Amino acid sequence: MLRVLKGNILFAPAFGSLEVIDHGCIVLQDGKITGLFKELPERFQSAESDDFGDALIVPSFCDMHLHAPQYPMLGMGMDLPLLDWLNTYTFKTESRFADPEYARKIYHEFVQKLIDGGTTRVCMFSSLHTDATGILMEELEQAGLCGYVGKVSMDRNSPDYYSETTEESKRETLRWLKESERFQNIRPILTPRFTPSCSDDLMAWLGDLAKERNLPVQSHLSENRGEIAWVKELHPDCERYWETYHKYGLWKNGTLMAHCVYSDETERKAMRDYGVTAVHCADSNINIASGLAPVRQMLSEGVPVVLGSDIAGGAQLNMLDVIQMTIRMSKIKRIESGWTTDFLTVAEAFYLGTSAGAEYFGDRPGFVPGQSLHAVVLDDSAFTETKNLTLKERFERAVYLCKPQQIKAVYGNGKRIK
Ligand code: GUN
Ligand code: FE
Repeated sequence: MLRVLKGNILFAPAFGSLEVIDHGCIVLQDGKITGLFKELPERFQSAESDDFGDALIVPSFCDMHLHAPQYPMLGMGMDLPLLDWLNTYTFKTESRFADPEYARKIYHEFVQKLIDGGTTRVCMFSSLHTDATGILMEELEQAGLCGYVGKVSMDRNSPDYYSETTEESKRETLRWLKESERFQNIRPILTPRFTPSCSDDLMAWLGDLAKERNLPVQSHLSENRGEIAWVKELHPDCERYWETYHKYGLWKNGTLMAHCVYSDETERKAMRDYGVTAVHCADSNINIASGLAPVRQMLSEGVPVVLGSDIAGGAQLNMLDVIQMTIRMSKIKRIESGWTTDFLTVAEAFYLGTSAGAEYFGDRPGFVPGQSLHAVVLDDSAFTETKNLTLKERFERAVYLCKPQQIKAVYGNGKRIK
């Protein structure tokens, strides 16, 4: 079916650039983009239209690292560094998802909140529970989102009430993969929580499985100084943290590594050489005082970078807030470096929160013919002086000021989902 979206169209076709179509049209055929037009061609005049008037139509957001079972603790327990934070709050919160009824209730609300904030593609950690992970995948898929979800693997250095034996972890991972076959747009991703949580045996088994079944991998890397020292104790043979994943076949093209705050030149080079993507989580890195990630350096060295909310280390689920925090953190980094490091511009950070994630999923950046539409409609009409601003000025302000209430419509994978 043909459909036309009308409004002001803005997107980031390349890092740092912004394309603008003043009162343009996006034509869709069965949810896939057919073309972008300034004037609607005659042959599409009879198509059904969603006319958003003077509103801004921009790509929807990709949240490439977040913990679904930490949603109940959003905005709480921010007074401890990573390892204490995990032991004091996080594992307790996640352990509640042993109860499928609780999981259904929380995940249903959580998925709605993602859509309200304009996120349509995700790479997500679940808990270690197979059933709750299935419920999460089902809620995401039914709501029209796309992406990856991982049942978390953790068979050591975890509390008794929230841990698996190695055998249990392997068995449950296989059961989860089998049960995931029923989903189309939400696919499984292998998820060793981080090196301290997984025995060598389990890491090696996951690495073999990733290879055998060609499955992607996500984990955490070099987030916090205490964590890095612990990893060094656990793997004295590894010079750097990344080698603990590489040793077991988990460091490969498409692997997502959250944080990379303390990734030095060698670790960053290993990311670039192997095609490992860094997921920058600015709000989390500030909240639990992990540090300032070298984002500009990673980008200039050719490391792929995407953004994540990392809730509930991050306290913002809305990716516009995460994009803002990314910009602010890059300015703190600039100040801290004695004004030697460039900060991220609005267009650059917006690219990382939209186009860079889309590229991870195999799309080209921006609204490109042939691709399914992932878009949000921002209504900035209630802000001051909107009529007297350029579209670029309105876009910049929208990134800073728009909240879910200004997100009037969301399209995920070609369908309108808000
Ligand atoms: N490292 C291991 N687990 C976690 C987690 O849940 N959140 C964050 N931010 N880092 C982690
Ligand atoms: Fe995380």
